[in-house]
Amino acid sequence: MNLDHEINVTLRRLIPRLEPHLPDSDSRREFNARLDQHFPAIFRLLLDLYGDRYDFFYHLEQILIMTASMYMQRPAALKALDREREAHPLWFQSEDMMGGVCYVDLFAGDLNGIRAKIPYFKELKLTYLHLMPLFKCPPDNSDGGYAVSSYREVNSDLGTTEQLAALAADLRAEGISLVLDFVFNHTSDEHTWARQALAGDEDYQAYYLMFDDRTLPDQYERNLREIFPEQAPGNFTFRPEIDQWVWTTFNHFQWDLNYANPAVFRSMLAEMLFIANVGAEVLRLDAVAFIWKKMGTSCEGLPQVHTIIQAFNALVKIAAPAMLFKSEAIVHPAEVAKYIAPEEAPISYNPTLMALLWESLATREVKLLHHSMQRRFDLPEGCTWVNYVRCHDDIGWTFADEDAWELNMNGFNHRQFLNQFYTGKFTGSFARGVPFNYNPVNQDMRISGMGASLAGLEYALDTGIDQYQDWALRRIELIHSVIISAGGIPLIYLGDEIAMLNDYGYKDDPNKAEDSRWVHRPTFDWERAAQRNNPDTDAGRIFSTLTQLITLRQQTPAFANGDTRFMDTHNPHVLGYVRGGEILVLANFSEHAQDVRLGWMPSHATDLITGEAYPRHKPVTLAAYQFVWLAAGE
Ligand code: GLC
Ligand code: GLC
Repeated sequence: MNLDHEINVTLRRLIPRLEPHLPDSDSRREFNARLDQHFPAIFRLLLDLYGDRYDFFYHLEQILIMTASMYMQRPAALKALDREREAHPLWFQSEDMMGGVCYVDLFAGDLNGIRAKIPYFKELKLTYLHLMPLFKCPPDNSDGGYAVSSYREVNSDLGTTEQLAALAADLRAEGISLVLDFVFNHTSDEHTWARQALAGDEDYQAYYLMFDDRTLPDQYERNLREIFPEQAPGNFTFRPEIDQWVWTTFNHFQWDLNYANPAVFRSMLAEMLFIANVGAEVLRLDAVAFIWKKMGTSCEGLPQVHTIIQAFNALVKIAAPAMLFKSEAIVHPAEVAKYIAPEEAPISYNPTLMALLWESLATREVKLLHHSMQRRFDLPEGCTWVNYVRCHDDIGWTFADEDAWELNMNGFNHRQFLNQFYTGKFTGSFARGVPFNYNPVNQDMRISGMGASLAGLEYALDTGIDQYQDWALRRIELIHSVIISAGGIPLIYLGDEIAMLNDYGYKDDPNKAEDSRWVHRPTFDWERAAQRNNPDTDAGRIFSTLTQLITLRQQTPAFANGDTRFMDTHNPHVLGYVRGGEILVLANFSEHAQDVRLGWMPSHATDLITGEAYPRHKPVTLAAYQFVWLAAGE
């Protein structure tokens, strides 16, 4: 029997079996229309993952029954949104898109506090709000919420699941899409599945990866990376209760799930659709690269990872099509790209741009940024970057060594330099970063720090030198101007819009002291935010610049979509790109004035930001760290 025929036969057989789970005829019609469209892909993907099991058809049916029942539980308002988004699938490519991310507790105490801050989000013109992990998690150390104990219960310190759903609706009414994490590589060791596994339940032990002794773990370890070599060395944790070694890629309390078990796929699908039904419109796929393991490999980014995400995606298109996936793969740029596709994750962090913005600030040269972006910025149709300068995690220098080699740069040495620079050890450095997880074996290290501290503001304030302070503020404005104007969704790490500095208080908290990422997870400073309309303050200057740029972006259709042509400005310090074929962006990464000749501009140009006119045959002179958005005409 050929596969297409088998798919058809299976679908015809399944439809009546799903009927009891789809009680009314309207639901049945809508569900079945989507099922018709997506079933062939679902069948092939699941066959690829689980086809060698004798009980494949049983699992296939269970997965679809789960999808049907979660579809039935989806609130009517979200079903209406589903239809709207099916009619306008590229809504997230609009020039209106503007993102912010924050911790519920650190930003506003709890979910009610977040609701009360909606006017602040509106001031920033946000259309996308990522609330950091907010589900139940272990009380002491939970890796900032990235160890989830229940995907259906909001952490009681923050509020309730009902409040979260109500908040999602309130945000939506204000034109803001809620973004939530799906921490699906692992659960915490306090999740009921883990507890049952610890109590000896073998079905739940099979939800995780467990080993009787070190034989297999030692074999796996030969090819695995250590993500947290300082705070959580190795990838396995011994649990004396059950005399087993448990796979723990991250911290010892974060247990990796076993997606080779179809029951895990189905259970996690249910948790995912639950989060969709609460009202998440974008789902951040946390630590996506790690979800499939195979002996003899690095167990990162294996082909099955993509198969799983595509299968989840196709099932979401049936039960909750308004929700989009965003991938979080902070790896080699070629690997990052592999997740980005309409049928996989249409949205992705752009870690290469992020890291290279900081690289360019350190070197005052844009060659690696320009070279990498020219090669790697373009995405498939229907996909979009999330461009950011900072997030809650460390900065890893994940540019491609091959890109560096082509410019006669040695990637390893360059990373050593960047680490020296951003920890302030390099002579002349303006940065105040903190080392994150130095690995003595390969000398790998990443950097923690708030954007403003990395950009020199903390150092400048210590020296009391006005010039340094001005440069630091200009650097903050400059890198934000790039994320706001480059193709994609700009994402502000809230606190950066008021130039908040490092918070060293984490060192006094034993649950945080080992993890320097807490230096850039401060409690939001509302007193500082109160200065945001006073341009004589650092907070006011950054806030007013960012809101001006955001407003311009949202008024300029050329900033929609991803179309971004990087061009050689013939000045090593100046980055240049054309947006939507209309706007030429120039950005000077040095503290010295730089000239650029606009040979390619068809006519006079006007800077959208300052209104200044640039005659055709004269060079454009950019002041220290200046950026312009040039449109043809006067
Ligand atoms: C992601 C999160 C990070 C967390 C890790 C493990 O990379 O961004 O904060 O530590 O996953 O969940
Ligand atoms: C994830 C990210 C990595 C990050 C880590 C936690 O593995 O891919 O970049 O450093 O989580 O910080």
